[in-house]
Formats: sequence, C-alpha cells, structure tokens
Amino acid sequence: MRALCWMGINDLQVKTVPDPQIVNPRDAILRVRLTATCGSDLHLVGGYVPTVRSGDVIGHEYMGEVVEVGREAKTVTVGDRVVVPSFLGCGTCWFCSRGFHSLCDNTNPNPELQEPLQGYPNGAIPGYTHAFGGLAGSHAEYIRVPYADANCFQVPEGLSDDQALFLSDAVPTGYMGADFCDINPGDIVAVWGCGAVGLMAARSALLMGAERVIVIDRLPERLALARENVGAETINYTASDSTLEHLRELTDGRGPDACIEAVGMEAHGTGPKYVYDRFKQALRLHTDRGSALREAAMACRKAGTLSILGVYGVMDKVPLGVIINKGLTIRSALQYGQRYMPRMLEHVQNGELDPSWLATHCMPLEDAPRGYGLFKNKEDGCLRVVFTP
Ligand SMILES: NC(=O)c1ccc[n+]([C@@H]2O[C@H](COP(=O)([O-])OP(=O)(O)OC[C@H]3O[C@@H](n4cnc5c(N)ncnc54)[C@H](O)[C@@H]3O)[C@@H](O)[C@H]2O)c1
Ligand SMILES: [Zn+2]
Ligand SMILES: [Zn+2]
Repeated sequence: MRALCWMGINDLQVKTVPDPQIVNPRDAILRVRLTATCGSDLHLVGGYVPTVRSGDVIGHEYMGEVVEVGREAKTVTVGDRVVVPSFLGCGTCWFCSRGFHSLCDNTNPNPELQEPLQGYPNGAIPGYTHAFGGLAGSHAEYIRVPYADANCFQVPEGLSDDQALFLSDAVPTGYMGADFCDINPGDIVAVWGCGAVGLMAARSALLMGAERVIVIDRLPERLALARENVGAETINYTASDSTLEHLRELTDGRGPDACIEAVGMEAHGTGPKYVYDRFKQALRLHTDRGSALREAAMACRKAGTLSILGVYGVMDKVPLGVIINKGLTIRSALQYGQRYMPRMLEHVQNGELDPSWLATHCMPLEDAPRGYGLFKNKEDGCLRVVFTP
C-alpha cells in the first residue's frame, strides 16, 4: 500500500510499504477514508520528538471503513464506518476502566522506551514514535487498530466523514481541555493557540457554559475563524502591547478564571526570553520553547486553572513559583478520546458542534509532503490538511 513516511528531519515521502495484517485476535484493519495533519506531527517532522525512525508511517487522526477483523473482535464488524481516537486503549485495564485511555497499560508494546523518562509508560498512538508504541500511522491506505472493540466508534448515519474525522484527535483534545476547567456560569476562559486544538477548546468551553472565551494567537485568518465560527473574542499578541494587560482589562482586573494552553513546544514569542528559548532548542540543549505556557501561568487569575494541552518534553524555566504562589490548579493529559466520544457525537448530531470546517485543505495522499509544507508554514490560511488515501 501507499503511505506517508518520515525519512528524516523535514523529509516526508510517500512510499510503498507492506499492508497491515491482523496480529492479535482483537485487531481490526481499516481502509482509511480520511486522515488529517495535527500540530503534534509538526513536532515530529521537525525532529523535536525522540524515537521516530526513518521509514515510519506517520499520522494519527483518521476515520475509515473496517475491512477485516480478528476472530475475537465482538462488536466491530466488516463494513462498519468508524472513527478511532488517536490514543489507543484496551478498554479494561486499571486506567481504561477509569477513563484514562491514553494511559492504557496494554496498548504500548514498547514501555521500556518510556519508563526511564517518565516512570510509567503511556498507551500507544499510531504514527508517533517508537516510545509511543511504534505502530504504523494513518497516513496510509490501511491501518491496523488493536483492541478494535474499545477503539472503533461507529459513525452514526447522518454524520459525514469530515464531521467524524476530527472526533479522532482535535475535538477530544480541545473538549478535554475545557472539561478540565470545571467551568461555572460566568467564567471567562482564555485559550493560547488558535490551531484546531485551541479552536475546539474554545468552542467546547462555550458549550460547557463559559460566559466569554478569549483566544490568543498571531495569525489573523485563524483569529477570524475563532470569532466567526466559534464565537470567541480574540487577541493578536503581535498587535497588542501586552497580552497580560489586555486580558486584565477584559476580566475586570482579575484575570481569566481558566487558561488553556494549546500551543506546545514550538511556541513563538517576542523579546529576549524567546531568543534564548529558540537558541537553546536549536542547539538541542532543551526540547521546548515555553513562551505560551509561561504567559498563561502569569495571566491566570489567582486560584484559577491552567489546562495544558500542548505537547512538551523537558522545559527550562517552568514558572513553578508562580503556579504555587497563585494557587493554580494544573490539569493536563494526552487526550482521552474514548471517554468523550459519546458526548462529542451527541453535540455533532445536535448541531452544536461541527468540526468539519477545520479542514481548510483536502488532497490525495500522494500530495501529502506538499500538504505538510502548507500546514507547517501556515500558508494559504492552512489550519488542517485532510488526505484521501
Ligand atoms: N494533549 C493531546 O492529546 C494533544 C492532541 C493533539 C494536539 N496536541 C498538541 O496541541 C498543540 C496544538 O496543536 P494544533 O494542532 O492546534 O497545532 P497548530 O500548530 O495548528 O497550532 C498552534 C497555534 O499556536 C500558535 N502560537 C504559537 N506561539 C504562540 C504563543 N506564544 N501564543 C499564542 N499562540 C501561539 C500558532 O500561531 C498556531 O496557530 C500542539 O503542541 C500539539 O502537539 C496535544
Ligand atoms: Zn494529534
Ligand atoms: Zn487499557
């Protein structure tokens, strides 16, 4: 089959690779109908995330049609049109049974790569490094889904493929980030990052009852989407003298009740701290540029919540004193898509949430290297590129 392979830093190529096979009796094989780029892939493509190897098939946001099932798959059957959360759970371990599917103890076949770094391993996510399982990704004609019954969710009739696609990764991440804020009526939520994750966090915060949501970025076309498609207020941090002051004014001098960080390790910024971050990251002396996370911690009201969705490694100058002194609650996770899937599907069916507009570009898989170029450089208003294998 044809698939998009990571061949080296900033080197993606479409190649012919072996078709996936049923390995375990609870596996399913999907014919991928749609698969999308994610900001996390940019960290991978740019070489900021360890244990990706030349030839790995990337991609983890996808939906498709079941074409084969193992003999122990019970609820999933051939012909089902399904969406699959990017992080895979087994459905029954201590973590999955409590709704922490990205922390599954059974789906990652390479726990020894993560344990030295973080004590205990994550569950697997396809197409995202060997430390996260080394499973072939979704930018391909076919993909193997382990523990199919726990991970394949039927797309209800009436929902289009492109409405279902983003329930795999961008929507559950944003939805979880808003859920972490325990929103009360009247709350003001600020969101750093106006990518698909930040936009879905903003939309979810409004669905959960936030009175106002303020999204911060520097890309005018993305901020326009936040205003027009989400109903958020926006701050362009390059046009504002100080995001902190701006937020203070918008929140009666108290600061946002909750701050959601949806930027991650490649944050842009201004001033000497940013130059220092860039320099150290370029020399691979640290993994992360942390300007958005630090600003969110500063801006948050005292005793507020800092909900961290961006992907990070080991960051310098984490403002722990700010967090402790201001009594902030930090919530963070790799997304728990299985936990939120029923609620997300209901919102889409009710017409309260339609993520299909996140797809600004659609192209055949053969054009994926060009698509990633558009996505990385945010050219032509690119927010998410969807590939059709
Ligand atoms: N927790 C999870 O399970 C999970 C899932 C998906 C994505 N992610 C992570 O979420 C982050 C966002 O993903 P995305 O797909 O929306 O990425 P994206 O690259 O499309 O968007 C990131 C946005 O952040 C903006 N930005 C950069 N620096 C900023 C700053 N200092 N202040 C405000 N905005 C700034 C950029 O202009 C861009 O619009 C990434 O780090 C990604 O890895 C996490
Ligand atoms: Zn992702
Ligand atoms: Zn599990």
